[in-house]
Amino acid sequence: MSILENRPALSAEVYKVAEVAGYLWEKGWAERNGGNITVNITEYVDDAMRAMPAITKPMPIGATLPNLKGCWFYCKGTNRRMRDLARRPMENGSIIRICDDCSNYEIVADEPVKPTSELPSHLSVHNYLIGKGSNYKASVHTHPIQLVAMSHNPMFLKKDVLSHLLWSMIPETKAFCPRGLGIVPYMLPSSVELAEETIKAIDDNYDVVMWEKHGVFAVGDDVMEAFDMVDVLNKSAIIYRDARAMGFIPDGMTPEQMQEISTVFNLPK
Ligand code: 13P
Ligand code: ZN
Repeated sequence: MSILENRPALSAEVYKVAEVAGYLWEKGWAERNGGNITVNITEYVDDAMRAMPAITKPMPIGATLPNLKGCWFYCKGTNRRMRDLARRPMENGSIIRICDDCSNYEIVADEPVKPTSELPSHLSVHNYLIGKGSNYKASVHTHPIQLVAMSHNPMFLKKDVLSHLLWSMIPETKAFCPRGLGIVPYMLPSSVELAEETIKAIDDNYDVVMWEKHGVFAVGDDVMEAFDMVDVLNKSAIIYRDARAMGFIPDGMTPEQMQEISTVFNLPK
């Protein structure tokens, strides 16, 4: 019997991940096992779940994360495909709890699917978010084609150059991704260094961070919100690309038009 059975709120949260996983595949952002998602599901854990035995022995996170004491997460499995997770989330992901030492985790349900190789980044970010008193519960890493392509040009990697360019392509981008796109220089996937630099960028007030020549990492209240921010940013990247492909450099909205959006939507910066 699945742990989701008779737990409608938990099940809804896991199936939201499945829905987003399907979108990532349809968009071409999730080749093979590309990308990963984790969600802090602690608020849905009941006493019966807490009493459940683990189905694996404790495994190291790779970092000690004191704010995660007592926390539970749904995690995509490493080497698992988003397109499979979209149909069968509990066969291609698992529910883990953080051990009391805050350095290890154990899988509780449904199958011993080892969590994503990017677990150090995801859990370090959740640890940081809890420490800040944030309500954000979801983190999404994906490989959006046009945004990744733009990260191959050093011109776009200077602070906020890409944010301003993307915001200026269509008014909604600033309205729905008001903090823009942070930049993390290329680092080995799944490394603790990448996790540390991601936290620094999120601490610099970004909700979406570019991992140079790799992908993006986004955080939000829930998985849908994190996905939407990446989607609007990548839409702007496509508009920029299409204008260039049509043979001209797009004007972008004027500073006055941008200011008007910020005022009307009550946005920062
Ligand atoms: P996982 O299959 O381990 O989640 O890795 C995918 C990925 O995109 C690594 O950056
Ligand atoms: Zn990746």
